[in-house]
Amino acid sequence: MKRTLIRNIGILQTPTGSYSHKGSKQGANEKYSNACIAIEDGKIEQITEDGKVPEGSFDETIDAGGKLVTPGLVDGHTHLIFGGYRQHEIAMKLAGADYLDILRAGGGILDTVRKTREASFDELYEKSCAFLDEMLAFGVTTCEAKSGYGLDEENEIKMLKVINALGENHPMDVAATFMGAHAIPPEYEDRGDEYIDMMCEVLMPEVQRQGLAEFCDIFCEDSVFNAEQSRKYLEKARDLGFALKIHADEIEAIGGSQLAGELGAVSAEHLIAIEEDGMDAMAEGGTTAMLLPATSFYLGKTYAPARTMVEKGIPVAIASDFNPGSCPSLNLQFAINLGCLKYKLTPEEVLTAVTINPACACGKGDLTGTLEVGKQADLVIWNAPDFEMVCYRFGSNLAGRVMKKGEIVV
Ligand code: NIG
Ligand code: FE
Repeated sequence: MKRTLIRNIGILQTPTGSYSHKGSKQGANEKYSNACIAIEDGKIEQITEDGKVPEGSFDETIDAGGKLVTPGLVDGHTHLIFGGYRQHEIAMKLAGADYLDILRAGGGILDTVRKTREASFDELYEKSCAFLDEMLAFGVTTCEAKSGYGLDEENEIKMLKVINALGENHPMDVAATFMGAHAIPPEYEDRGDEYIDMMCEVLMPEVQRQGLAEFCDIFCEDSVFNAEQSRKYLEKARDLGFALKIHADEIEAIGGSQLAGELGAVSAEHLIAIEEDGMDAMAEGGTTAMLLPATSFYLGKTYAPARTMVEKGIPVAIASDFNPGSCPSLNLQFAINLGCLKYKLTPEEVLTAVTINPACACGKGDLTGTLEVGKQADLVIWNAPDFEMVCYRFGSNLAGRVMKKGEIVV
């Protein structure tokens, strides 16, 4: 049995409860002053405030220096595993090509598919392990990772095995999402329906048989998969026991958010172009809005209507969308800054959006996402006196020390 004490916490700020927070609960954070956390075997045993110190002896004592402590951040949407990079697209963007122009010309996601197919398991593992180290340094202690750059049986399974191996070997908790329907691969050009049939009949059941993913996701978008194809894919996923996610209304609103609400998807992601009825369907279905503001920034798009979503009672989460095309940044702190500045969410609403709400959308809300007795001691000691400072100092990394399951990892 190992007992650790974190003492001298200036402010301990956290949402509470292991459920998705919506409406007025989105911004309900507890703030304890002059607090301590006692940890036993990686789990929170006691939280005290107002200078009171937990009793008993400790194997290790950490002085938080009067600074802010929050739950470890949860990045609920990443495409962490990929071959190559796409820095050459910068020149194409400057020349006026937009995201879908590049994809339609056989570049974009398909470019990364070529490089991911060429990469070995070990190459992908080493590269993404380094990304996870970088994410930890930014204060992220749990993340989701999607397949979707293999687009055939061999390479989708290779990607999912990398994701699962990382989850086992790296301190980060990693939730695995199968996203075989990320694009139509060149072998199926102009045969999207047949590709979806192959996904439903062959690959998705195989992923389920091997237990490689908990979630299934599809890119429901103009020139990619339409709403009818998305319905077929997600209904099959639901029948196989997967929880559902969907990339919806990123560039065009073609019915993805309505489908998410109707099928009770755990989350719908992007939602830049969402309309009123899509939001109503999501509120009705209890679907979390997984918003990706750094993608809006990088693509030069508008920002999803996060305030309206909170007002409509949709749980809002904010993630990085780290990927080589539409968001080559894994800095979730930048997404926090944009959450305040562009979505106009309060710091408290943003903290919920990067902790408990994405934890629930990754199936890990019982384990992490809040600082409460019985939960994993996943936390950040910030180089900041309060969370407002984290929302304000964009461009710097304010994470000081990062703890995962009771061990200091940064
Ligand atoms: O979430 N929009 C689809 N998928 C990713 C981008 C993938 C890529 O461009 O490589 C996203 O933005
Ligand atoms: Fe994505």
